[in-house]
Amino acid sequence: MLSISQYREAFLDHLSAKIKTKEPVNLYEPITYILQLGGKRLRPVLVLMSAEIFDTSYKKALDAALAIEVFHNFSLVHDDIMDAAPLRRGKETVHERWDLNTGILSGDAMLINAYQLFENYEGNTFKELAQLFTETAIQVCEGQQYDVDFESREDVEVADYLKMIEYKTAVLVGASLQMGAIVAGASQECKEAVYEYGRLLGIAFQLQDDYLDAFGDPETFGKQVGGDIIENKKTFLYLMAVKNAGPAEASQLEHLYSINPSETSGKIEAVKHIFEESGASQLAREEIRKYTKEAFAVLDKIELSESKKDLLREFGASLMEREV
Ligand code: IPE
Ligand code: MN
Ligand code: MN
Repeated sequence: MLSISQYREAFLDHLSAKIKTKEPVNLYEPITYILQLGGKRLRPVLVLMSAEIFDTSYKKALDAALAIEVFHNFSLVHDDIMDAAPLRRGKETVHERWDLNTGILSGDAMLINAYQLFENYEGNTFKELAQLFTETAIQVCEGQQYDVDFESREDVEVADYLKMIEYKTAVLVGASLQMGAIVAGASQECKEAVYEYGRLLGIAFQLQDDYLDAFGDPETFGKQVGGDIIENKKTFLYLMAVKNAGPAEASQLEHLYSINPSETSGKIEAVKHIFEESGASQLAREEIRKYTKEAFAVLDKIELSESKKDLLREFGASLMEREV
């Protein structure tokens, strides 16, 4: 077994070897741009780690890891269009640097490239990987649609939000771990358990992402801080604040979330103040811990050596502490 950072290095070598700009450059340059911008590479690291946890060399899982990372970055290119986001990983988003059409088509090509990478696997492994990928990718689309629908819906409940983040984010984390297990030919029980670990960790991850969207440090966060607030995203913070704030603050918050995204002067600070005062930010931190603990409880039940579980625990714990 390697360390998390060694898996990341191995993945980055594979990425650089496989992803090159070619003709037509206006299609491929944005792809190399977004894929080389950096990022935490969490999902591909999980694919590689999982393969080794189930006793197969990570090298066999490199193409599956790359497929996951290419798909994830495709979803970000299109997501940044949908969220009108100016920044990604501290740099201009693809549609800002080029234009909307470039973001759409380069994103499309990435989705297809991701699928194509599974062709490097034989028979049953290919079939299982492709099936899991297809199912997961369609769930991500469903999650993205809920996310957009919620911006203008006024009856969003916490359970709706949790389902939305499960689909747009958590299932891909689960699938990353399961793909490593598929490549390794692990048992059905192990494949399911490791998926469940990833799914729960993925929910904690997105809760944290939404928390950092409001409370992250603009110097290091890499995205526009307050982007969710500008876009009236019904995050856990928002839903808890509406529930727990006094009637005056709650209706002020609802008013702030009814105004047009272009009229944002003072909005971010006012909303963050209500998030804090209502106790919503505290509740969000508790919810992140709750899902991480649930994930660890799933891990406890998998039949694996303690040292292997420790690596997965270390990974989960590092997510909870992240600032970016
Ligand atoms: C993105 O969700 C989910 C997908 C791209 C599928 P968000 O819109 O909340 O993520 P960030 O904050 O832009 O990274
Ligand atoms: Mn989004
Ligand atoms: Mn977004």
